[in-house]
Amino acid sequence: MNNNILCIGAGYVGGPTMAMIAYKCHDVNVTIVDINQERIDAWNSDELPIYEPGLEEIVKERRGKNLFFSTNIEQGIIDNDIIFVSVNTPTKTFGHGAGYAADLQYWEKCARHIREVANSDKIVIEKSTLPVRTAAAMARILEHGSKEIKFTVLSNPEFLAEGTAIDDLQNPDRVLIGGPQNEQGKFAIEKLAAIYAQWVDDSKILRTNLWSSELSKLTANAFLAQRVSSINSISALCEQTEADVSEVAHAIGADKRIGPKFLKASIGFGGSCFKKDILNLVYICETYGLTECAEYWKQVVIMNEYQESRFVARMLKAMFNTIAGKKIAILGFAFKADTGDTRESPAIKVCKELLQENAIITISDPQALKSAKKDLADVSNIENIIFEPDPYKAAENAHAIALLTDWKNYKKLDFKKIYDSMEKPAFFFDGRNHIDSDMLYSIGFNVYTIGQTQKTHL
Ligand code: UDX
Ligand code: ADP
Repeated sequence: MNNNILCIGAGYVGGPTMAMIAYKCHDVNVTIVDINQERIDAWNSDELPIYEPGLEEIVKERRGKNLFFSTNIEQGIIDNDIIFVSVNTPTKTFGHGAGYAADLQYWEKCARHIREVANSDKIVIEKSTLPVRTAAAMARILEHGSKEIKFTVLSNPEFLAEGTAIDDLQNPDRVLIGGPQNEQGKFAIEKLAAIYAQWVDDSKILRTNLWSSELSKLTANAFLAQRVSSINSISALCEQTEADVSEVAHAIGADKRIGPKFLKASIGFGGSCFKKDILNLVYICETYGLTECAEYWKQVVIMNEYQESRFVARMLKAMFNTIAGKKIAILGFAFKADTGDTRESPAIKVCKELLQENAIITISDPQALKSAKKDLADVSNIENIIFEPDPYKAAENAHAIALLTDWKNYKKLDFKKIYDSMEKPAFFFDGRNHIDSDMLYSIGFNVYTIGQTQKTHL
C-alpha cells in the first residue's frame, strides 16, 4: 500500500485540507480531483476558486511539486491508496427526510466509482460530514465487488472554520480519526495518524470508533450553533429591556464553565454546516424515535430563522413601516468575514424580505458579489437589486445601511462621508454590532444594533 493521497471533491473542505497536507508532508503526493472542470481549472490558475486567507500562498508553493489538481478521477483512484472523499452532502430536497436528511447520492456514486476502478487495497476516508452509520453503508458498497481488494473505511471529520481555515489546519484543537476496531481498522487509523503527526502533537490525535467520530462532528456543530441561538434569543429580550447583550455575553463568558467564545449576538448563523448538520441530527433522532431530542435541536434552527426575520421587521418598523421604493445599502453578503462563501448566509433571507417590501437594495461585499448574484437570481423584482463593490457608492442616496457581514475594512470607512451622501433621516442597522454605535449616533445616524437599546434622533 502506497502513501499517496487522493481527495475526491475540490471544495471548501477538500481544497484547503489537502493543500495543508501537501504543505506539511513533502514526501506525500497529494492529488485533488473533481468532476467540475471549471473548479479544477481555477485551482490550477492564479485565481483560486475559493477565497481563504493564506491559502493561495501554500497552494502556490506546493502546486506541481507534490500537490496536483485534476479531473482524471479514475487515474487518481488507481494511483493513490489513501482516498479522502470530500464531496458535497447537501440536505435532501426530495422523498424521505426531505428538508432534514443528508443527500448521500454524491457520496454513494463516489464509493461505487472507487470500487469499480480500484485494483489495490484502499483506505477510504470520510471527510464530508455524514450521518451516523454512513461508513457502514459505504463499507457494504465497497465490499460488494468481486475483486480481492481490501477497503477500510475511516471517518476523519474536518473542524476548520472558513476564514480561519489555514490557521485551524496548522494548529487544530484536535484531529479525530474513527475506524473499525479490528486489526485492519487499527492499521488504517495509524497510517492516517502518521500523516497528521508530521505537524500535530500525538496527544491531539483522537482515535475513536467510527460512530463516535461521525456523531462528534454533528454534535460539535450543533453545540456551536446552539450557543449562537442561545445568545440571539437573549438579544431579543435585551432589546425589550435595557440590558445590553454584549455586557451579558461578557458577564456569562467570564465563567470558565461557559467560556467567552461563540457568544456574539448577530443577525444569525449561516454557512454550509450548522443548519445542515442540525437538521441531519434532528432527522437521525427522529429515525430512532427520539422525538424530544429531535424537537430540542430543531429549536436552534427555528431561533436562527426568527432572528433573521426579526431584523427585517425592526428595520421596517423603524423606517415608518414602509420601505417601498427606498434605497437600502447592504454592507456584506458573505455568511461571515474573510470568505466569499454565501451558503445559508443570513443576507439571502434579509435581502429577499426587503425585496418583498419593494425596497431597492444595493449590495456591496469585498468577495461575495458573484455568489450573491446567483443567490438572488430567482427573485421576481430583480431590477430592484444593484451590485456595487464600492461601499461609498452603494450608500449614496440610501435611506438606510444594513451591515450584515463583519468585514474588518468596514471599520475603516469614513461614516461621516457616507452619512452626508445619504437621504435623511439616515438609518444604520448593524446586524453584527460591528461599528461603534456612539460614533455613528454622534454623526447623525439613527442606530439599531442587535440586543441593545436603539439610539435615535427621532
Ligand atoms: C463551522 C464550525 O465552526 C467548524 O468547526 C465546522 O468545521 C464548520 O462549521 P464555519 O461555518 O466556517 O465553521 O464558521 P463559524 O465561525 O463557525 O461561523 C458560523 C456562523 O455563525 C457565521 O455566520 C458566524 O457569523 C456566526 N457566528 C459565530 C455568530 O453569529 N456568533 C458567534 O459568536 C460565532
Ligand atoms: P464542502 O464545503 O463540503 O467542501 P463543496 O460543495 O464546496 O463542499 O465541494 C464539494 C465538491 O465535490 C464540489 O466541487 C463537487 O463538484 C465535487 N463532487 C461532487 N460529486 C463528485 C464526484 N462524484 N466526483 C468528484 N467530485 C465530486
